[in-house]
Amino acid sequence: SLPKNVTIIEVGARDGLQNEKRIVPTEVKLQFIKALQRAGITEMEITSFVSPKWVPQMSDHKEIVQSVTQSGRQFVLTPNEKGIHSAMELGVKSIAVFVGVSDSFNKKNINKTTSESMEELRPLIRQLKEQDIFVRACISTAFYCPFEGKIEPERTYEICQQFVDMGVDELSVADTIGMASPSESYELFSMISEKLPNVLLTAHFHDTRKMGLANIYAALQAGIHRYDCSAGGLGGCPFAPGATGNVATEDVLNMLDRLGIETGIQLDKLLEAVKIIEPYVSRPIETGMYTLSKSV
Ligand code: HMG
Ligand code: MG
Repeated sequence: SLPKNVTIIEVGARDGLQNEKRIVPTEVKLQFIKALQRAGITEMEITSFVSPKWVPQMSDHKEIVQSVTQSGRQFVLTPNEKGIHSAMELGVKSIAVFVGVSDSFNKKNINKTTSESMEELRPLIRQLKEQDIFVRACISTAFYCPFEGKIEPERTYEICQQFVDMGVDELSVADTIGMASPSESYELFSMISEKLPNVLLTAHFHDTRKMGLANIYAALQAGIHRYDCSAGGLGGCPFAPGATGNVATEDVLNMLDRLGIETGIQLDKLLEAVKIIEPYVSRPIETGMYTLSKSV
């Protein structure tokens, strides 16, 4: 049977905006985040601490952290010591680290091999846990890599296992370029949840081939009850060629609602958040529920 409750982790302000060339004013980002919180979102990636040269859109990260109400889990995403330490100095209580299963993607994304990244993160995660900070580990190219093709589930599992040994609280396992099929989703999430039952397990789907909802349905059948989604279906990683937005929060909410699964999020208010960000992004927002809301 499917889970009765699902937690949506909203990644619109981070994954959603990082790929936008035109800089969105900080004030607009803050209004977007506030509207998402008003809709009932309690866990969110609000920004990333990465190089402003690599990802200029996120260069207002400190201001974002200082202006957002820190209730629930408001994550800062960062891959390295510099970012983790500056987030800690600002008193951030929820940090998301990230690494790619494939070396070629990790090199393009953070200029290190996967094992170099893991070795850098090991002592940092220990420090975070000593400070009682919630640690989420995001695992990219868990199914397919834009450079290496299919990634064997055992390789993804190996990285998950290493993170669990380091003491992380959550794994967010990502289909970075939206190539997974529902059977691959079911198989990978069943395998990880069976072998690592004591960690929160989250699924992160990009919707490049419009398989996001189908992949979530398959993961629900594997018992997964946490999903990363992006309002308006915005998103994509600038260093993953061929990747588009994340699966849209509003369309996931509609599906879960029709399945009788509770999220605590109000769809009409979520759509107000989409309306706030729409004028500032490079393409029209054409998700199912948003389009419908404009036509009725
Ligand atoms: P580098 O050039 O190898 O390293 O970049 P560096 O140490 O020489 O740093 C370059 C500059 O960045 C220096 O500044 C550093 O101080 C600064 P400069 O001296 O030139 O003025 N810097 C930082 N600034 C702020 N915060 C930091 C930080 N670290 C260094 N944390 C680096 C290495 C990791 C910095 C770079 O490759 C980078 O920023 N990469 C980020 C890429 C990124 O943001 N990708 C998207 C997020 S991941 C994603 O979207 C996938 C996910 O959604 C899951 C999925 O879908 O797969 C999570
Ligand atoms: Mg992503």
